[in-house]
Amino acid sequence: MSSATNTLERYYSRRAQEYEQIYLRDDPIRQGEQTAIAAEMRKIFQNRRVLETACGTGFWTEKIVDVAEHLVATDLSQEMLAIARSKKILNPVEFHQADAYQLGSVPGIFDAGLANFWFSHMPKVRIAEFLDEFHKKLSKGAVVFMADNVYIPGIGGELVTRPGIEDTFKLRELSDGSKHEVLKNYYSADQLQNIFAPRTRDLKIHVGQCLWWISYAL
Ligand SMILES: C[S@@+](CC[C@H](N)C(=O)[O-])C[C@H]1O[C@@H](n2cnc3c(N)ncnc32)[C@H](O)[C@@H]1O
Repeated sequence: MSSATNTLERYYSRRAQEYEQIYLRDDPIRQGEQTAIAAEMRKIFQNRRVLETACGTGFWTEKIVDVAEHLVATDLSQEMLAIARSKKILNPVEFHQADAYQLGSVPGIFDAGLANFWFSHMPKVRIAEFLDEFHKKLSKGAVVFMADNVYIPGIGGELVTRPGIEDTFKLRELSDGSKHEVLKNYYSADQLQNIFAPRTRDLKIHVGQCLWWISYAL
C-alpha cells in the first residue's frame, strides 16, 4: 500500500464519527443534487448485483439497499466500516474491508459498480490502475455510477497546489483540532469525458453546481 493511500485511510478513520456532517449542509442546491444522485442510483441499480468501493459509512449504500439484488460494500478503513455496519442495513448488504486498488479477494459476481466520492482522492497516476481493477470485478454490460465534488473555493478547506505535481490537496481540520493535507482532485466535464469515454459506453456526465455524477456501461 502506498504512503498516500495510508495517509488517506488514516485521515478517514479519524474522521469517521463526524463524516456524515458533510451531507447535512444547509444548502438547497447541494441537497437537491444529493437527492438527484440518489434517484439516479436507484434507477441504475434496480435488480443489480452491486460492488461498492470506498463505501465509507454506507451513506449511499443505504440509498439503494431496497432496489439492488445484492450489495457488497467495501472500504479500507475499519472505523468507517464499523459505522456502516452499526446501521444494521438489512439484507442484501455485505461489508468487507478491501483496498480499492486490490479488489481481487472480494467475493461475488457483480453486474454493477458504485464508487462515490472516491475518484477525487486518487492520485491521477493511479486512475487507470483503479479502473482496470474495478472493471475486472464487473461483468460485460455492467453499469457503473460515480459521484464527486465540484471545486468551490472556500468549501472543504484550502486548496493546495505544488509546482510540478499534477495532484491537488486540501487542508482539512477535524473537530479534535488535528490538521490534515488530503489529496483531492477536481475534474471538469471535459476531463471526465477524456478519462472515461475511451474505456466505456453510454457515458453520461452531469456536472452540477456542487457535485458531479457519471454513469456508464462496460
Ligand atoms: C470521501 S469518503 C467516501 C465515502 C462514501 N463513498 C461516501 O460517498 O460517503 C472516501 C472513503 O475512501 C476510503 N478509502 C481511503 N483509501 C482507500 C483505499 N485505498 N481503498 C478503499 N477505500 C479507501 C476512506 O476510508 C473513506 O471511507
